[in-house]
Amino acid sequence: MYQPKMELTPEQLSILEGAQGETRAKMMECVVRYGDIFNAKRLLPLTYKTGHLVTSFGISMLTPIYPLMEELIQAGCKAEGGFTADPRPMEFDNCSANPLEKLVFKKIIYGRQEEYEGMLKKVGLLSDDSFSCTCYLPEVGNAPKEGDVIAWAESSAVVYANSVLGAKCNRNSGVLELFMTILGVAPEFGFLTDEGRKADYRVIIRTSKAPEAQILGSAIGMKVMEKVPYIIGLDKFLEQLPDDDTVAYLKDMGAASASNGAVGLYHVDGITPEAKRLGAKLIKDNAIEYVIDDAEIERVYKSYPIMWKHKDKAPQRAFIGCPHLSYKQLLDWTNKLEAGLKDTGRKKLTCYTVLTAAPAVVKKFKATPDYDRLLATGAHLASICPLMYADNPLCGMKRLITNSNKLRTYTFARYAKDEELLSILVGKERIK
Ligand code: F3S
Repeated sequence: MYQPKMELTPEQLSILEGAQGETRAKMMECVVRYGDIFNAKRLLPLTYKTGHLVTSFGISMLTPIYPLMEELIQAGCKAEGGFTADPRPMEFDNCSANPLEKLVFKKIIYGRQEEYEGMLKKVGLLSDDSFSCTCYLPEVGNAPKEGDVIAWAESSAVVYANSVLGAKCNRNSGVLELFMTILGVAPEFGFLTDEGRKADYRVIIRTSKAPEAQILGSAIGMKVMEKVPYIIGLDKFLEQLPDDDTVAYLKDMGAASASNGAVGLYHVDGITPEAKRLGAKLIKDNAIEYVIDDAEIERVYKSYPIMWKHKDKAPQRAFIGCPHLSYKQLLDWTNKLEAGLKDTGRKKLTCYTVLTAAPAVVKKFKATPDYDRLLATGAHLASICPLMYADNPLCGMKRLITNSNKLRTYTFARYAKDEELLSILVGKERIK
């Protein structure tokens, strides 16, 4: 048997020794070994039981996952509080694909999607509507509160839960987060400790207006990497939480910082819960200073490579909503697209445009007349993960454009600021 370095409770030790069966013992060993690598002192009980899984896709080539899931099911392992999961990869009605792409998606890449979703249900997936990376939005309702210990892995959800909700979560890996959710424990290290939540960087915002959230997050992520930034001077541009625009801003900034770097926690002076409670006490004595002004935002924006083969050609597809849009963002984009088209006198957007949001947000939006207004612009509304769509040679080589820095980072998609993207989509501006 594996000899743990950390201290375990008698119950945890008995699980490791096999008292609850071989499968639970193996899961426990994985979690304990994981904690031991990071010198965790012990396993903490999860105080918020609903998990969130990063692996939502039935990729055919991910062969080890299927027998593993089968073993969990056979052993009767199920997450006590259930879990939500990242978005699905495909939704052809709302994000079209040609026959070859469909074939590749359904038979080759995501050939085991249906089977995998069936498995997820058996181990605790909450519902068919549980597929979104923004599980913490009110419509989805998977939102731990301040101080809760959780074990998620989706980087954009982890950074939101830690920073905006004040929960305690490490940047775990896929599958390990499922084991921890089922066992109801997480090793105590990193963001689960007070010391691990202190800031290594003091980021000073000196811009003339609110910086684009996705570029600010990118700038911070590329500078601090996996360290914790304490952001000063951003509060003058933001209303207090839970204002809808602030929620959306912090969601997008965090996702960009987590993907352009590896940020798992940030504090915003005067806004996020721990910063409001502890203020400058959260900043380490030897914190490094990073000043962000208009020139720095522009420098970072200009540094993004354009990976298109034909850089001056029009985009073929636009994605808005990575991470998934909030309800307010969906409404704002509908208004902006409609007004923009009116302005340019065009009837439809210049390219196939997909807005993405959680199924519950989409459902709520579809029940309003605003949905028809959005469709009238020619846009489509889906709940997929645009990255899962684009992360293959067939779709990835299309000229994709997006206002998501995460999508830009992981694919050949070209980044555009919100205003720039709007101008291109309504035909006011051409690609330069
Ligand atoms: Fe969400 Fe997929 Fe983007 S999981 S953050 S929509 S890459």
